[in-house]
Amino acid sequence: EKGGYDSFMLKEIYEQPQAIKDTFRGRMLVDQGLIKMAGVDDHIDKFLNAKRILVVACGTSWHAGLVAEYIFEELARIPVEVEYASEFRYRNPVINEDDVVIAISQSGETADTMAAIKLAKENGAFVFGVCNVVGSSISRETHAGAYTHAGPEIGVASTKAFTTQITVLTLIALQLAKKKGKISTSQFHNYLVELESIPSKVKDALESNDHIEQIASVYKNAKNCLYLGRGFNFPVALEGALKLKEISYIHAEGYPAAEMKHGPIALIDSDMPVVVIATKKGHYEKVVSNIQEIKSREGKIIGVVTQGDIDVRGLADHAIEVPDTLEFLTPLLTTIPLQLLSYHIAIALGRDVDQPRNLAKSVTVE
Ligand code: F6R
Repeated sequence: EKGGYDSFMLKEIYEQPQAIKDTFRGRMLVDQGLIKMAGVDDHIDKFLNAKRILVVACGTSWHAGLVAEYIFEELARIPVEVEYASEFRYRNPVINEDDVVIAISQSGETADTMAAIKLAKENGAFVFGVCNVVGSSISRETHAGAYTHAGPEIGVASTKAFTTQITVLTLIALQLAKKKGKISTSQFHNYLVELESIPSKVKDALESNDHIEQIASVYKNAKNCLYLGRGFNFPVALEGALKLKEISYIHAEGYPAAEMKHGPIALIDSDMPVVVIATKKGHYEKVVSNIQEIKSREGKIIGVVTQGDIDVRGLADHAIEVPDTLEFLTPLLTTIPLQLLSYHIAIALGRDVDQPRNLAKSVTVE
C-alpha cells in the first residue's frame, strides 16, 4: 500500500508530479488556449463581479490560500483576504453579498472551516470549495467547487494536497485574469504551457533527495530553525516551518525575509539553521542581502535556489536547486525540497512521520 516507500508521506511527496498533472488534466486545454472548470464557469459572473475574494482555511490549506492571494492579486487584480477559519467564525467578520468565499480543505471535514462556510452563507456570500475528498462535508456544503485530484492523502502531514490546492487556485486565477482582460491571449497561452511543464520540473526537484538527506543529517540536532521567503515564497516559508514542526518536533518559524531585522535576527547565531528560498526572481537581490546579514551573524544557510545560480551558492552553506519557472509558479517547486528536508530530519530522529504525536488527519472538533 506504501508502494515500496517507507512511509505514506514519502510516497505522497513523490506522487506530486502525477497529482498535479491529474489536477489540471481535462481542465487546462493548452492547444486550444482554454481553461474549463465547470464550478467556476457556471458561476463566472459571481467571480467577475466579486469586489474581493475571502479565503478561509486552516493549517497547510491556509498556506495554500496565502499563495493564492499573491497569485490572484498579481494575475487577476482581485483583492484577496486570507483568514484562519477559526478566527473568522468568531469575530463577526464583514461579509457582503458580492464577496466570493473560497474554502480550502484537503479532508473537507475541518470543523472550523465548515463553521466559517456556514457563516459566509448566512450572510449571502457565494461559497466555493477546494477539497480533495470527494463527497466530503465541505464539498457538499459549498455552492460550487473544484476538487484537487491528489488521490488519498494518508500521511498526517499534508504534502500533495498543498501543491494540488495551489494548482487548482492557479487555474482559477488564470481563468479570471483572462476573462477580466488582465492578461493577453498570448500571455495566457504561455502561462498554460509553463504550468503544463511543472510536473516534470517537480520530478527534477525530487532528484535532490539524496543531497537533502545529507543536509538533514547535519542539522537534525538543531533546536530551532528559521524559514525565510519573500513574495510568492513567503507562504512557502511558513509551510516549510510547519512541516518541520509537525513531524520532527523541532521548533521552526517562517517569516517574510525582510521582517527578520524587525526581531527574529536576534535569534541568529552559529547554532541556527536558516532555510532561505532564494529563487532567481523578483526581489532576488534583496534576498541575497538578507542572506549576507545572516552570514555575518554566523547563521547556517540552506538556500533553495534556481538551477545554475551562483550568487547564493557562493554564500550559502548548502544550496538546493529547483528548475527555473515563472515567478508565480515557483511555490510548486520550492515546496518540494522543504518537504524532503523535514522528512529526512524527522526520519533521522526516528520519528513516526506518518502519525506524528498529538495530530489527527482531520480536525473535526474545534
Ligand atoms: C498540516 C496539516 C494540517 C491541515 C489542517 C487543515 O500538514 O495537515 O495543518 O492542513 O488541519 O486540514 P484540511 O485541509 O483537511 O481542512
